[in-house]
Amino acid sequence: MHRTLIVDVKKALAPCDDLTICGWIKTRRDCRGFSFLEINDGSCLSNLQCLVDEGTPAHEALGQAQNGTSLAVRGALVASPGKGQQWEVHAREITLFGLADPEKYPLQKKRHSDEFLRSIAHLRARTNKYGAIFRIRSQAAFAIHAFFRERHFAYVHTPILTGSDCEGAGEMFHVSARTADQHNDFFSRPCQLTVSGQLEAESLACALGRVYTFGPTFRAEDSRTPRHAAEFWMIEPEMAFADLTDIMQLAEDFLKSVIGSVLETSAEDLELLDKFVDKGLLARLKGYASKTPFAHLEYSQCVDILQQSGKKFVYPVAFGTDLQTEHERFLAEEYCRGPLIITNYPRSIKPFYMRDNDDGKTVAAMDVLVPGIGEIIGGSQREERLDVLEDKMQALGNTSADYWWYLDLRRFGSVPHAGFGLGFERLLMLLTGAGNIRDVLPFPRTPGSLDF
Ligand code: 4AD
Ligand code: MG
Repeated sequence: MHRTLIVDVKKALAPCDDLTICGWIKTRRDCRGFSFLEINDGSCLSNLQCLVDEGTPAHEALGQAQNGTSLAVRGALVASPGKGQQWEVHAREITLFGLADPEKYPLQKKRHSDEFLRSIAHLRARTNKYGAIFRIRSQAAFAIHAFFRERHFAYVHTPILTGSDCEGAGEMFHVSARTADQHNDFFSRPCQLTVSGQLEAESLACALGRVYTFGPTFRAEDSRTPRHAAEFWMIEPEMAFADLTDIMQLAEDFLKSVIGSVLETSAEDLELLDKFVDKGLLARLKGYASKTPFAHLEYSQCVDILQQSGKKFVYPVAFGTDLQTEHERFLAEEYCRGPLIITNYPRSIKPFYMRDNDDGKTVAAMDVLVPGIGEIIGGSQREERLDVLEDKMQALGNTSADYWWYLDLRRFGSVPHAGFGLGFERLLMLLTGAGNIRDVLPFPRTPGSLDF
């Protein structure tokens, strides 16, 4: 069967005598002499209106089919006299695939809460809001690949099963094939799900020059916040012959480019979200994508600003403490009123791989924060000096022999290099205005929740 997608029908330049569209009934209105159907096939937000004359075989085939029923409509595409759409279909033939009992179909025509829709994640992509969010997710992924490809970054795939804890936080899922005794297990050694592809990406960057990963990562941290998921996707570019300044510039160019691209490719979906989910979304995104440079602050400046803010924070701030969400949000939302890059964090709160600065106190790290979310990107220049790296690992109690290959990169042709990690779902929260990470993941995994 030749089927036309609604996204293509919308672009039609001329009427067409014979076409078939497939989709689900969004609404049905029965009038005297005919029925109106609004059909959606998921290819875009818009529905296509179909007219089915009473007394025809098509109307007979339609029967009592209601909202949620899947069907194929064959007929003629004609200019619509009605408001709000350019084209409509006059049905000649209707084939029903699957009925949806109106008494039992969970997606009634009223507005449902996000919490309820999470409990029917297998159906929620059929709603306007979640259809829009998951189409934007797809467009954003393509925009990310396009950005790096244009800049000659190689797309590399790093392992999901690993034995190393890149971030050193010990928040890893353990993987077992057979026994509880990991030393007798599949790999004859403990195995975990990766928290980051960075270490392997560094190895490939020290050969291919510029690389990036785009894959799933896993964190067994028990953070029950709207911004943490146990399984999320991360984009990790890594550049050889680059320092902190290079990677800050890359992060800013990257965010602006991806936001700009999604504004172009997803205008219809963004307008819906701007109207019903987050008023002001479009204006905000246009502002972020504009030429205005992101604000820059050093970590030590942030400490001063927070201490002098006169704000009562739950967690007090002093040099050496990690910035909490409340601090990050104050800095991005109230102090800078826009995206902000913070650099040079204390070495004591950052992982072993970050490059020591000459002051002996800080490392060449950078985080990008955005209003409403907080940290969206974390990155750094990497410690490329073998002796310094060995000392740091020793000091952190990391004497594991597992990192011999990582140290080899510093033994043979070591180069200054830098990279960052962007949480894809946090970017999607920014792009869609969704207030909860569970709503930009089709099937979210969070503490206590592994449905679907
Ligand atoms: O700051 P993080 O932990 O950095 C790294 O993993 C580095 N190895 C990245 C690198 O330099 N290549 O994580 C990077 C980003 C965060 O800024 C955040 O956006 C996201 O990953 N992230 C999470 N997103 C959702 N749920 C979680 N539990 C997340 N933890 C981190
Ligand atoms: Mg971080």
